[in-house]
Amino acid sequence: MDKIIIEGGYPLKGEVSISGAKNSILPLLFSSLLTDKPCFFDRIPHLRDVATTYKILKSFGVAIDEGEHQSHVQALSIKNPFAHYDLVRTMRASVLALGPLLARCGYAKIALPGGCAIGARPINLHLSALQKLGADIRLEEGYVIATAKKLRGAPIYFETPTVTGTENLMMAAVLADGHTVLDNAAREPEIVDLAKCLKKMGATISGEGTSRIEIEGKPSLSGVHYTVMGDRIEAGTYLVAAAATGGDVTLLGCDPEHVTAILSKLEEMGADIAVSNEFQKIRIQGRDLRNIKLSTEPYPGFPTDMQAQMMVLATRARGTSIIVENIFENRFMHVCELQRMGAKIEIQGHSAVIEGGVSLKGAPVMATDLRASVCLVIGGLMASGTTEINRVYHLDRGYEEIEKKLKGLGAHIERIRD
Ligand code: EPZ
Repeated sequence: MDKIIIEGGYPLKGEVSISGAKNSILPLLFSSLLTDKPCFFDRIPHLRDVATTYKILKSFGVAIDEGEHQSHVQALSIKNPFAHYDLVRTMRASVLALGPLLARCGYAKIALPGGCAIGARPINLHLSALQKLGADIRLEEGYVIATAKKLRGAPIYFETPTVTGTENLMMAAVLADGHTVLDNAAREPEIVDLAKCLKKMGATISGEGTSRIEIEGKPSLSGVHYTVMGDRIEAGTYLVAAAATGGDVTLLGCDPEHVTAILSKLEEMGADIAVSNEFQKIRIQGRDLRNIKLSTEPYPGFPTDMQAQMMVLATRARGTSIIVENIFENRFMHVCELQRMGAKIEIQGHSAVIEGGVSLKGAPVMATDLRASVCLVIGGLMASGTTEINRVYHLDRGYEEIEKKLKGLGAHIERIRD
């Protein structure tokens, strides 16, 4: 397995281009199942999760012509609406095949994704909502078997906002008979990106980005040419890396409106930030940082996918910081690895108490999940000495060419291919 070696202590300086958003391109690719017409997607990031999605779509019989950062995708007919456990267990987002397959061909057999390092990750809210649209749902030998002669629009209330649950139901409802309301829907920008794409395909959707989305079903949808939004979590990660190394970095290609909560917390800590909405540019200069209190919340609150990155940043701020993780039950896996680097962090239930003013020391560490692994990269950039990060395949799921982008900002970072 590849590893990454970092020589820490070099401030990041310069410009970095943000790639297309992982958590947007995944539902967008699955939305191609809703039509037999060709779909063309642009600004596709080179990520393991995208490659996995291609494999799953091809196993359904979808034709895919992969380009450099774009692809033609056409589901002329669905030959085999079955997603095998071997594929689903590597990417939970495979559950996003459920809604479009049900809507398109009235049948889907998808392996239950199971849990992952950060939590149990149930899909009960997806399944109960699809039943409200008239689907028959059976669980057999670790698979969800869903059937529906024709989905019918219905009012749906999510007990808790679920991002992929909202996306699954949007994709099911756009071809259902009648009107669907999604109440307490997730409000993430990736939901808005999916709605924009579905509307370009001819769907009737309103309220995306609010907690109440309304959808009028259509008999069929057209093809689409769609460019993915910039990745707000990748952007947030580079902002934190710049602040953590006392650097001066300009990000290109992320909508500043998508990172408001992140920018406000970094400014609260003392970073200097300049934003150009018109040119999608964000400049950050790291300064002496103050401690922080933050709680992760559904969008537009502070994103859970940025929690680990803020935690390692807090180790260098003055004073004691407190971070509360409200979304996932086990998203502190990075703490013990940071402690190996000298961080002084105490876990109290869903809260982490981080002592500031600590100088991290390079060490061999292990990545456990996507965002925990990038938190260790930031730790390595900040630390004195050498940090060796193992199991970097987690990183490759969500960060395109991370060592190349960081090297371009002056980091001393190498990937050792194994
Ligand atoms: C999406 O996961 C993202 N993944 C996650 O990003 C992100 O952390 C998460 O939303 C929260 O923002 C993609 O978009 C592919 P949820 P998702 O359903 O949809 C509970 C990353 O690092 N819940 O919004 O799986 C759930 O347990 C990944 O890029 C149920 O109880 O998350 C959690 O506590 C990690 N039942 C909360 O809701 C359900 O049926 C929010 O989960 C569904 C969810």
